[in-house]
Amino acid sequence: MIYLKTPEEIERMRAAATLVSQTLGEIARWVEPGISTRRIDTIAREFMRDNGGRPACLGYHGFPGALCVEVNDMIVHGFPSDYELRDGDIVGFDTVVEKDGFMGDSCYTFAVGEISPEKKALCRTTKESLYEGIRACRVGGRIGDIANAVQTYCERRNYSIVREMCGHGIGRSMHEEPEVPNYGRRGIGPVIRNGMCICIEPMVNMGSRNVVIARNGWECSTRDHKPSAHYEHTLAIINDEVEILTTFDYIHAAITDKFI
Ligand code: MF3
Ligand code: CO
Repeated sequence: MIYLKTPEEIERMRAAATLVSQTLGEIARWVEPGISTRRIDTIAREFMRDNGGRPACLGYHGFPGALCVEVNDMIVHGFPSDYELRDGDIVGFDTVVEKDGFMGDSCYTFAVGEISPEKKALCRTTKESLYEGIRACRVGGRIGDIANAVQTYCERRNYSIVREMCGHGIGRSMHEEPEVPNYGRRGIGPVIRNGMCICIEPMVNMGSRNVVIARNGWECSTRDHKPSAHYEHTLAIINDEVEILTTFDYIHAAITDKFI
């Protein structure tokens, strides 16, 4: 069942989305060679709590961090750890904040120091595909229109789309209906309507689309160990318009060199 939100509820979604965006802006300043991902996780937790939010990933079905940490070939749901970021890594931080009963969800893949042109191109295409998906999201259209736009954009550039995980509806819960895949046909799936809140989150691989799930049941990486990138925004459909509730502006303001 798709929960349509009232304008008042969307205001509360906006507050949660702003806080998750600010959290990514905060951790952006810390993304440097030598820092452990656990340290960045701690900074994120404190920032969320100091600003009236709750780190919603922490403890979610037993997930051990506030951040999902995605270094190089890690696609999604990586654990914060003692691993220290290295020059040339790409690292995605995917996180959800709850504020006043509603969730905001966003992800950004950062460059650590100097990264290869190939990694830069992967990240750029993945981020652009997120905006292609957003452009394809229109009142009266279908979820499949978004999915197809993301897929077409990435596959034309010879990247592959991860199929095991999808975007999703969001609201009082982090994952609601509908599912928002990053691949599929135009014109299929639920109709996009006022009051819907969804997350679009392309997960894009440089090599094949095949994945491996670790024995811990969470960490999902590429089978061929080639890099993967991931970006995510939370959107609301209101007054026949699509509004992006999260923003990368805080990241952009915090850093310039790590902004891909
Ligand atoms: N954006 C991620 C998702 O939609 C957030 C996962 S949080 C976790 O799957 F706790 F499940 F890891
Ligand atoms: Co999400």
